[in-house]
Amino acid sequence: MASDNTTEFVIEPGPPLSGEITISGAKNSVLKLMAATVLAEGTHTIYNVPDIFDVGIMCQLLESMGAKTNRRPGVVEILIDKIHPVAPFELVEQMRASTAILGPLLARYGRAELGIPGGDDFGSRPIDMHLTGLEALGASFDVQPEGLVGTADHLTGGEVVLGFPSVGATENIMMAAVLADGVTNIENAAREPEIADLASMLTKMGAGITGAGTSRITVTGVDSLEAVTHRVIPDRIQAATFMAALGVTGGQILLREARYDHMDMVCQKVGEMGLRASPDRDGIWALADRRLNAVDLSTLPYPGVATDYKPFLASMLCVADGTSIVTENLFAGRFRYVDELVKLGAEVRTDGNHAVIKGVERLTGAEVVSHDIRAGAALIVAALGADGQTIVTDHGHVRRGYPDLAGDLRTLGANIHERPGT
Ligand code: UD1
Repeated sequence: MASDNTTEFVIEPGPPLSGEITISGAKNSVLKLMAATVLAEGTHTIYNVPDIFDVGIMCQLLESMGAKTNRRPGVVEILIDKIHPVAPFELVEQMRASTAILGPLLARYGRAELGIPGGDDFGSRPIDMHLTGLEALGASFDVQPEGLVGTADHLTGGEVVLGFPSVGATENIMMAAVLADGVTNIENAAREPEIADLASMLTKMGAGITGAGTSRITVTGVDSLEAVTHRVIPDRIQAATFMAALGVTGGQILLREARYDHMDMVCQKVGEMGLRASPDRDGIWALADRRLNAVDLSTLPYPGVATDYKPFLASMLCVADGTSIVTENLFAGRFRYVDELVKLGAEVRTDGNHAVIKGVERLTGAEVVSHDIRAGAALIVAALGADGQTIVTDHGHVRRGYPDLAGDLRTLGANIHERPGT
């Protein structure tokens, strides 16, 4: 991310959180919904769009291919007419979710060029399952060090069995299958709510999809789709971030729009820590009225505790009573933010994909650096439970996933402000 996006979040001790905020649309849903628009000509309108950097990057990606986009608060309109199916490297490299364009381009235009650093694998986050799944429908790929070219004269439904319930692979295969001839079954599909949201938009567009949200998705191909209007589901990761902040400071908050039914497992987990989260007519109501307990947790595909929650759940455990073991099962060794938590006085040891966290009463303010979206949020959450001032330097990561994290926390009473960084 460019250095002009550098922000310093300055956090001082504050009162317990109280009041209410509204959770915006989900980052991990809206980006895929935007990619899906290339499947049909016309003007698509997406509502409840979060004001985050990644939406801007996806707009740029679509525009670079010939789409027209128009943003106003909470809304993005996308006009699809003639599309040039080439996704430029400089945009793809900024945002992995750009790979969601692959399936729609192949389905609609029979060709997709994706500027992604290639070779035998794709760095630490490979897309081999995306490619194998699309090959099962008749696509072929030429993978070069500077990018890949996919072609498909004709896509035909097929049987796809995923070795792991990959979110991105499930979405790409589903988006390719909607215009393929015949029926596609995706076995061991990912079950995340964002996949059901994508299927719901595709169904409105005219696609034949059943089973989205379960491990077996069946797609019956149709000849064409049409442009639609769709409202993005709320961002469960954002909602969980505020629950974690509450856990650290104590207090009582209402997260308007948050969907408890998308967050059962994480609500159960924070419940074991001693925070009460209950479904409310308007969202999720949460109360933290005592010091948190240590708990062990492992990240798993949905409906398990998501890997995206882990950094800020770890921040809660840093000030919990007792010792916790946190296990990462999705992205091996993703504990880079731990070094920064240690600078705040956390007692954490990592070993492979495990972290052992011995809770302390209070953390201590320090200067730390955020290396990705959720790590940034985790450091801000941890700083809310620290004595003295903390400065979190963030190179644009937090704004990739949160419309206004500092502003929302201030609304809840936290003592946080941001200023341009150097
Ligand atoms: C999505 C989310 C991300 C979340 C992740 C898991 C978006 C934009 N991002 O990422 O926030 O952390 O789901 O819930 O929605 N894998 C392969 N080969 C593949 C594909 C994946 O080996 O072809 C591996 C990955 O390296 C990882 C695991 O499978 O270890 C899960 O990845 P996946 O579910 O695909 O995550 P993303 O869709 O990239």
